[in-house]
Amino acid sequence: MADWKFDRMAHGGDYNPDQWRHIPGTWDEDVRLMNLSHSNLMSVGIFSWAALEPEEGQFDFGWLEEILNKLYAHDVHVLLATPSGARPHWMAQKYPEVLRVNETLHRNSFGERENHCYTSPTYRMFVDRINRALAERFGNHPAVVGWHISNEYSGECYCPLCQNAFRAFLKQKYGTLDNLNQQWWTGFWAKTYTDWSQIEAPVPHGEGAVHGLTLDWKRFVSHQTLDFMRHEIRALRAFTPDLPVTTNMMGLYDGLDYFRFKDDVDFASYDSYPQWGAGDDASVAMEYSLIYDLSRNFCDRQKPWLLMESTPSMTNWQPICKPKRPGMHRLSSLQTVAHGSDGVMYFQWRKSRGSSEKLHGAVVDHCGHENTRVFREVSQLGEELIRLDAVRGSLVDARVAVILDMNNRWAIDCAQGPRKDKRYEEVVKDHYRALKTFGVDIDMIDMEQDFTPYRLIVAPMLYMVKPGVAERLEQFAQAGGTVVFTYWCGMVNENDLCFLGGFPGPLKRLLGIWIEETDVLYPGQTNAVCFPDGRRYECDYLCDVVHLEGALALASYEGDYYAGMPALTENRFGEGRALFVAAHTGLDLLYDLYGRLLKECSLSPERQKEGVVVCRRHAGDKTFRFTMNFLDQPQTVTLPAGRDLLTGKQLSGETELPPLGLFVQEIDG
Ligand code: GLA
Ligand code: ZN
Repeated sequence: MADWKFDRMAHGGDYNPDQWRHIPGTWDEDVRLMNLSHSNLMSVGIFSWAALEPEEGQFDFGWLEEILNKLYAHDVHVLLATPSGARPHWMAQKYPEVLRVNETLHRNSFGERENHCYTSPTYRMFVDRINRALAERFGNHPAVVGWHISNEYSGECYCPLCQNAFRAFLKQKYGTLDNLNQQWWTGFWAKTYTDWSQIEAPVPHGEGAVHGLTLDWKRFVSHQTLDFMRHEIRALRAFTPDLPVTTNMMGLYDGLDYFRFKDDVDFASYDSYPQWGAGDDASVAMEYSLIYDLSRNFCDRQKPWLLMESTPSMTNWQPICKPKRPGMHRLSSLQTVAHGSDGVMYFQWRKSRGSSEKLHGAVVDHCGHENTRVFREVSQLGEELIRLDAVRGSLVDARVAVILDMNNRWAIDCAQGPRKDKRYEEVVKDHYRALKTFGVDIDMIDMEQDFTPYRLIVAPMLYMVKPGVAERLEQFAQAGGTVVFTYWCGMVNENDLCFLGGFPGPLKRLLGIWIEETDVLYPGQTNAVCFPDGRRYECDYLCDVVHLEGALALASYEGDYYAGMPALTENRFGEGRALFVAAHTGLDLLYDLYGRLLKECSLSPERQKEGVVVCRRHAGDKTFRFTMNFLDQPQTVTLPAGRDLLTGKQLSGETELPPLGLFVQEIDG
């Protein structure tokens, strides 16, 4: 592993000098504008394979050398990309196996990007060769500070090579076909496999009913993508053992289990494209706070991460691509810094002239000069990032964790019944929001992470419980931790087999309850969670019917055949406890619950107004506190005493935070 050692807050973005080689003067203008906008880091070469290897085995690295020298001469550094995100024509023409086979089992024609076969030995050979050549030639170039591996790995390949690799993956996992048949419950609908060769990836016109198969296929895709990334990194490490590597990830993208990447990347990075201005920016801010707290945890939580892409103005692929309003660029960029990013990077530096991204926002527009609103806002932010240099390297130190587990999400998506949309992601977001509203710092983790740094762990809809997880959560509670679960938990094991002996399966002891059944409410139908002191909160959607087996009921259902039965329970466990929210509720109940729990866990909740987000980063005995207002109205916030790094002013107590404003205070202790 290598460390991120860039000696300033990163500011820059995806730069495609190869697209502009034939237009003299563009590169010189680029470096002038980079300096003007305080840009210091560019991701170069992401889709440059055709320029780097125009014919098989013929490399043309001269242009790259020239631009790296030019950038370095202007004090701009580089994340050098491996070009595997898109292959050149000659390769696909001569070696069609590098192209993916799609889920209709037809091989793709050449086109688009991020759609190569991860298994193909031919593709791997070409990638290895060019990665080595790049590392050998440029690994020691003074401009290069790290590797940008490929681009947004994604998708699935159904070619015979991948199907075989899938079978090998299953053999490794299950050992025998008998074991696989049992774990996948293939006695159902005459699915029993009698030969490994009968196993095929799930496809719309084939198998979809064996959920163990579907889950393992998703795991395989993730595994094979990771294996491909490792293959890329090995080639680089041979020449540049000390250059840090990252790959740009997509946060909530559900095609990969990014938590499995954490030991292979030296720092995490994320491509962020919030839809600001659609009407509810407070919710968008919360959603992206969650994603940043998630993305940071795709590598070691004790490291800063990097916002690798964001648009300085608008995208070109959302249904409505609204430019950011004045001020939103600054605030939304610094929101990522608040959550631990050591910089702000864009897609793209210069707007491409043709093809599908020609209308995507960029720092430099087609007009080609600096006299644009977007360029001015980018430059101002560049200046502010310099003022925030003290924050660089500081860490988010969360004591609250929310579990968002990819395997659980896949399993919930597979499950047929009791209703089509189980709303897993939405429910996780609600719990996150309820907690974040109290201004606490949060880690988003999966069920395999270390639980010991936390005091409060929230596990919404933990339908799947992998081996060992219940035991580790028991230890966590035993040692004084508080865990919150909700309805739809403890139902299946890691292979999607239901737990026998009553739900919540292995969580029964920790929760001290038995879930007998789940009521499912039609749209418009509601029940209510009632507390003895008269507080009443509506619930709907899914309501578990629960019996106490050691836990206490804190609230009970108001109506229906389970009126009076427990709707919120608490089970003392060792020094700690486990709570169970039996039904889907609105935020009202969650605010009430988490306000109390955070206080009881000594986590100093400070309820913030809608649209205000508070985050902290720590370095030694210094704390950097970010207080951000995502609304277009001023907000009065209550601040601790501390100097604002952006203005140099001392702030404390009740203070007016302007629309789209933020304070970044340095606080001692
Ligand atoms: C992704 C890709 C970029 C670019 C942007 C556009 O994040 O990684 O290459 O296409 O989207 O928003
Ligand atoms: Zn394949």
